[in-house]
This record gives sequence, structure tokens and C-alpha cells, in this order.
Amino acid sequence: MLFDLNPKTSSKELFGRERELEELIRLVRARRWVAVLGPRMVGKTSLVKMAMRKA
Ligand SMILES: Nc1ncnc2c1ncn2[C@@H]1O[C@H](COP(=O)(O)OP(=O)(O)OP(=O)(O)O)[C@@H](O)[C@H]1O
Ligand SMILES: [Mg+2]
Repeated sequence: MLFDLNPKTSSKELFGRERELEELIRLVRARRWVAVLGPRMVGKTSLVKMAMRKA
């Protein structure tokens, strides 16, 4: 759903975040502490949820 206000949970809806997702998964697997910073509604929670599912 394109106009859903909730964070994205499926990778085919998470547009344009391939690089960030790969990097976040890599850092989580390496047991690094990671902070995801950005403006409101930019997609932080969506990115983190997806990375936690895939890591
Ligand atoms: N990569 C993406 N492609 C398309 N829509 C996205 C993407 N990432 C997030 N969205 C959509 O943008 C909105 C905000 O996403 P999300 O809640 O993940 O952002 P956030 O940065 O955590 O927001 P907040 O600052 O309010 O916590 C939601 O409607 C979500 O579905
Ligand atoms: Mg959020």
C-alpha cells in the first residue's frame, strides 16, 4: 500500500533503500551499535524493521 502511514514491513515496498538496508544488516550482523538518524517520516522505522527481519 503506497499511502499507508505505517512503517513498511515488506522489502518490495521499501523503495530506494537498498544500499542503506545492506549497510544496516552488515552492521547489525557485526554486532555494531548503530544510530539511524533523519527527519520525521523519512523512513527510519521502516528501514530498521526490515533490517531486523533480515539480519
Ligand atoms: N522506502 C520507502 N518507500 C516508500 N515508502 C516509505 C519508505 N520508507 C518509509 N515509507 C513510508 O513513509 C512513512 C514514514 O515511514 P516511517 O514511519 O518508517 O518513518 P520514520 O522516519 O520512522 O518516521 P517518524 O519520524 O515519524 O518515526 C510511512 O508511510 C511509510 O510507509
Ligand atoms: Mg519512526
